[in-house]
Order: sequence, then structure tokens, then C-alpha cells
Amino acid sequence: MRTIILASKNKGKIKEIKELLDEYDLEIKSLFDYEEIPEIEETGITFHENAAIKAKTIGDLLNYPVIADDSGLIIDALDGRPGIYSARYAGEPTDDYQNNLKVLKEMESVDEDKRGARFVAVLAFYRPGEEVVFSEGYCEGEITFGERGKHGFGYDPIFIPKGYTKTMAELKDYEKNIISHRAQALHQFKVWLKEHGL
Ligand code: IMP
Repeated sequence: MRTIILASKNKGKIKEIKELLDEYDLEIKSLFDYEEIPEIEETGITFHENAAIKAKTIGDLLNYPVIADDSGLIIDALDGRPGIYSARYAGEPTDDYQNNLKVLKEMESVDEDKRGARFVAVLAFYRPGEEVVFSEGYCEGEITFGERGKHGFGYDPIFIPKGYTKTMAELKDYEKNIISHRAQALHQFKVWLKEHGL
């Protein structure tokens, strides 16, 4: 069995990525298995840069293959915010509830037909000594006027995926895992793994 580290302490992300990699015979660890590692500063200005920083820092420290996910919500009416600042939009430490309140407040006066948004996930796969490999996924949708649903994490309660009436947080885990940005990015990554005989 091969070991791979998920460079994350976000329980929602870890759960989803583990489920999405279920078909592989992998021992999947996360940063909860390495509590001694301090928080990695995400100093990049793009999702790609931040995913690469996380993957390389952890891969070089632990000498294992790493997957890092940098993701977030891009809202058209807010000029792309919260974007790469999604995790800490309402300040430190990360507080999903406060982040959602802040977005809803900023979107209060935005008309129904101007509430378009998308989730983005960029995955960086790094094997120590090799180049970083990226994959990315998107999920289009719109922002609600209030929170709905208890599943998922982050902005799921205020995001309705395109073609749905339920929020991402009202969908079952397996339903989110079919359409999510993370699922799309992992699908692309699995194709790469297959092409490279891994
Ligand atoms: P990161 O850990 O810097 O990549 O920040 C990711 C942040 O983007 C999370 O803390 C959430 O606020 C948001 N986010 C990313 N993916 C999702 C998702 O699948 N659902 C809801 N929010 C998400």
C-alpha cells in the first residue's frame, strides 16, 4: 500500500478527497497526523501558487508524495472575491459561519440574476524531487439570499450549483462528490495517473 499525504487540516476537504480516492489502495494521511508541522503560510497570489507552496513544503519536509488542494469561491458581483482569501474572508481563524454572513451581507442588494459564482479547486501533486503536477476543477452556480443545509463545509450553505434548486449543503455527500470542483479536479488527476501508469 502506498502512502500519500494530503497537505491540509480542513476536515471537509480531507473527507471529500479521501472519498474521491477510495478506488485506490492508498494509505492517506493528512496534517492531523503531523501535528508538529506549523501552519504553512499561503503567500501566493493564485490558487496554483498556493497549492504548489503547500504541496512542496510538506513533500520536502516529510519525503512522501503529497496532494494539496487550494480552493475557493469566486463571486462575479464581488469582482471575484473572496477568491484565494476564501478561508479567512471574515478574518482569522477560519470561521465558515462568519464567512457566509459576510458574503450574504455584501450580496444583500445584488439582484437575483446577478448572483453568479463558481467554486474553484486546484490540486497540486508533488513527489519530492519531481515537478509539481496540477489539475483543476470548477463548479458553476449562484449565491443564495440565506444559509440552507448542513452538509459539506465552507460556503456550501449559500451556494446553489447550476441546474439545481438545493444548496450544496442540502445535497447528500455523494451528490456533491459528483458535481463539485474538487471532484472535477480529482477526475483530471486520475486521468493523469492512468496515463502515467500510476
Ligand atoms: P484553502 O484551504 O486556502 O484552500 O481555502 C479553501 C476555502 O475555500 C475553504 O475554507 C472554504 O471557505 C472554501 N471552499 C473550498 N472548497 C469548498 C467547498 O467544496 N465548499 C464550500 N467552501 C469551499
